[in-house]
This record gives sequence, structure tokens and C-alpha cells, in this order.
Amino acid sequence: MECSLAGRRALVTGAGSGIGRAIAMELAASGADVCVLDLDEAGLQETVVAIEKLGRLVVPLRHDTGCDSVIGAVRKVELTPGFGNIDLLVNNAGISPKVGGRKRMCWETPPDEWRKVVDVNLNGYFYLMSAVLPGMIERRKGAIVNISSMAAHRFSIVAGVHYCASKSAVVGLTRQVAGEVAPYGIRVNCISPGRIETGMAAEVGAAMNEEIRQATPIGRLGIPDDIAQTACFLLSENAGFITGQTLAVAGGRGL
Ligand SMILES: NC(=O)c1ccc[n+]([C@@H]2O[C@H](COP(=O)([O-])OP(=O)(O)OC[C@H]3O[C@@H](n4cnc5c(N)ncnc54)[C@H](O)[C@@H]3O)[C@@H](O)[C@H]2O)c1
Repeated sequence: MECSLAGRRALVTGAGSGIGRAIAMELAASGADVCVLDLDEAGLQETVVAIEKLGRLVVPLRHDTGCDSVIGAVRKVELTPGFGNIDLLVNNAGISPKVGGRKRMCWETPPDEWRKVVDVNLNGYFYLMSAVLPGMIERRKGAIVNISSMAAHRFSIVAGVHYCASKSAVVGLTRQVAGEVAPYGIRVNCISPGRIETGMAAEVGAAMNEEIRQATPIGRLGIPDDIAQTACFLLSENAGFITGQTLAVAGGRGL
């Protein structure tokens, strides 16, 4: 079934590269206008150009999702002439700090690195939902997708404790918010990607990614479009009876 988002207005965080850019482009290709949020100005600009080529309205927002001032910044976007109320949100911006391509062990992780990861990977998701939910509730319309990770569900050989803990918390956050907003006609779901070929995945090096590919029953690493198409489905009316769920998009990894 075709995924139509015609007439919808979406906000995608971490849209300056990788999975976030692919999601923003897929939503635009499905008919949505898109606000693209990222810290990286150059990456944002590339996404803007790509979406303009698809003929959709695109509004760039350069901001740190881990800082609660993002709530006010998003509310300002909703007042942008020609854009208006956001009815689709994808919380995707995330970080996974490494040293020389390797994770730090729990006992080696500095507290400020722990706080930074929790700020971006967890608190940011809460801030963004806090920004858009009052409007969605008022209009009785909206859908949200939170990007977690397979590291939320099983021991990770590549990601640190802050990453795994924050991604696990996103699964619980999704379930809780989904229950709270379902009576208002709003759905909230989560995607746990397996290894997806992006800048984040490249950091651990080719040998580690090959090891992960071999442990993936489908026999390949994922690509950003695998996640983008799933996000588009979950945001669309095709998924109108699905809420509070976490879907692994991981080529069978961890079966
Ligand atoms: N690539 C994978 O294998 C994989 C696997 C599981 C989950 N994920 C998750 O998917 C999401 C996207 O990952 P990716 O692989 O595309 O990573 P990426 O590093 O390619 O892209 C992340 C984007 O988020 C932006 N960003 C980072 N911190 C930000 C902040 N504080 N505020 C605003 N923007 C910020 C970056 O500038 C970048 O454009 C992340 O949440 C990641 O944890 C990725």
C-alpha cells in the first residue's frame, strides 16, 4: 500500500545526515512539508536542497536537541508563515561517543559524557514531544516515531552504557506517552534499527561492521532507506491501529 502523507507537516531531528536525512526525504517524497532540525549547518543545507528538488516546503532549524530551549524554537517554527502546525514528529538525533572507534567501558565513562548522551538521546526526545504534543492534542491529530536501537534490547559490542541505557529508556518513553495520548487520536511508535550504513556506523571500522553483517541473518547491513520506509509507514494512516510499539528493523539480528 502506498504511503501518503499529503498535506502533513513533519519535523525530523538529526536530519543533516544518515538516517534522519533519508527519513526527511522519504516523508517529503510522500507529500509532507518538512522542518529539518540538526546542529550541523552544512549537513542541514544539503538536506534542504535535496527536499526542495522534491518540490516540498522545507524549513531548516539549527538547534541542539539536548537543550530544553529547543521547545521554544520548535514552537516558533509552527508560527512560520506557510508552514504551520506540526502533525508528524521523528525523534532521530542521536550520538554514540567512541574513542579510536571503540566504546568506553562503564567504569571508564566520564560523568559529563554520560550526561551529554542522555541529554541528546533521551532528554531531547522528551523535549521535542513536549513541544509538539499540546498542539497535536488540541487538533486531535498526530503521529510520532522515536528512533531507538537494537542496543536497547541486547548487549552491544559497539555502543557504550550511556547509549544502551538511553536507547532502552526511549522504548519505555514511547510506550508511556503512547498510552497517555491515544485517547486524543495520537499514535507514538518506536523503531530499533540494526546496523545501518551511516557515518555513525562507519566510526567502528570495516572489520567490526563485517562481523555484524555476518551475524545478520538477512546477510547485509541496513541502509538509511530501510528505516525511512518503516518510519513513513508508522506515521501514515496505514498504521492507524498501531501505537506504543517498538519495531526492530535489523535484518533478523538477535533472533
Ligand atoms: N547507524 C546505525 O547503525 C544505527 C543503529 C541503531 C540506531 N541508530 C540511531 O539512528 C539515529 C540516527 O543515526 P545515524 O546513524 O543516522 O547517525 P549520524 O551520525 O549519521 O547522524 C546523526 C545526526 O544527528 C545530528 N545530531 C547529533 N547530535 C545532535 C543534537 N544534539 N542536536 C541536533 N542534531 C544532532 C548530527 O549532526 C547528525 O546529522 C540515532 O538516534 C542513532 O542512535 C543508528
